[in-house]
Amino acid sequence: MALKSLHECCVLVTATSFGQDDPSLHLELESRVGQVRYNPQRRPLKSTELQRLIQDVDGLIAGLDEIDAAVIESAPALKIIARYGVGFDRVDLPAATRLGVMVTNTPGANSTAVAELTIGLLLALARKLCQADGAVHNGEWPRLSGIGLHGKTAGLVGLGAIGRLVAVRLAAFGCWVLAYDPYINSDVSISCGATLVSLDELLERSDFISLHAPVTPDTRGLVNEGFLRKLKPGALLINTARGELIDEADLFNALKGGRLAGAGLDCFIQEPPAAGHPLLTLSNVLLTPHTGSHTDEATSNMGRMALEACLTALSGKRPNYLVNPAVFEYGVRIG
Ligand code: DGY
Repeated sequence: MALKSLHECCVLVTATSFGQDDPSLHLELESRVGQVRYNPQRRPLKSTELQRLIQDVDGLIAGLDEIDAAVIESAPALKIIARYGVGFDRVDLPAATRLGVMVTNTPGANSTAVAELTIGLLLALARKLCQADGAVHNGEWPRLSGIGLHGKTAGLVGLGAIGRLVAVRLAAFGCWVLAYDPYINSDVSISCGATLVSLDELLERSDFISLHAPVTPDTRGLVNEGFLRKLKPGALLINTARGELIDEADLFNALKGGRLAGAGLDCFIQEPPAAGHPLLTLSNVLLTPHTGSHTDEATSNMGRMALEACLTALSGKRPNYLVNPAVFEYGVRIG
């Protein structure tokens, strides 16, 4: 079967902030391919919803949707899943590889944006900014007491691209920065002002803990009752990585019981969390809608990289940042 021309291809964009700060991305995509379809829900799609939209699609610019084997199997023309973002934990990579579908991501595109949100959540939580803002809007004038960052110890679980940027920023605030990352050596940690320690030591010494690890079998549910029990009483927890790193029921108990003073969460196991989710009822939790990479710079970077990967793959060439190069051993789809 011959490769389709770009003008015969249909691209589905499920990433809801694609082109938000750079309309040229829409114009370019729409002028280069035959048909572009956008996510009608403005939130990550579940497998069944995607299966209905993807049947005749050649390329997918993907948000944080549930891209399981059933989705990939229901799209016989699909050649590329271009993740708009770095994590590809919601894509069934073995199924994509087996079915000859390329998967790419956008490393580095949003690291600064996520690091900045991490600092923003920590400052907002430590200085009770949301309570203060709500009270003053209400005509009140409360005397709230916050926690200073200077001289405190911050512990980073994961010292990849984002963790390193967070370390540098925390050091600039005068924090002592500890990090746990079994894949990083001390040259890397020294270069960003962090000291590598064991996970237990990090939990015992840190006033603030921030998660910057991917979801793997080793890290899924890492923040559970045992992890939380080792923390200093009154510690603050920030998660701008993935909801799956946390056992949400155990976190709720630690926050409710006062073991943890507060948490700043940008991500959840289910996004958006269901109405009535217990964490939504707590006043010592600051919640944001997985917005870490939603800045003008990051959305433009992610959009440009995902668009280029999609168009390159649909033209029959190998895209940059291919996370399943083994797809070439199984044979890339051409039809
Ligand atoms: C990522 O890079 O994976 C972020 O979660 C945004 O998609």
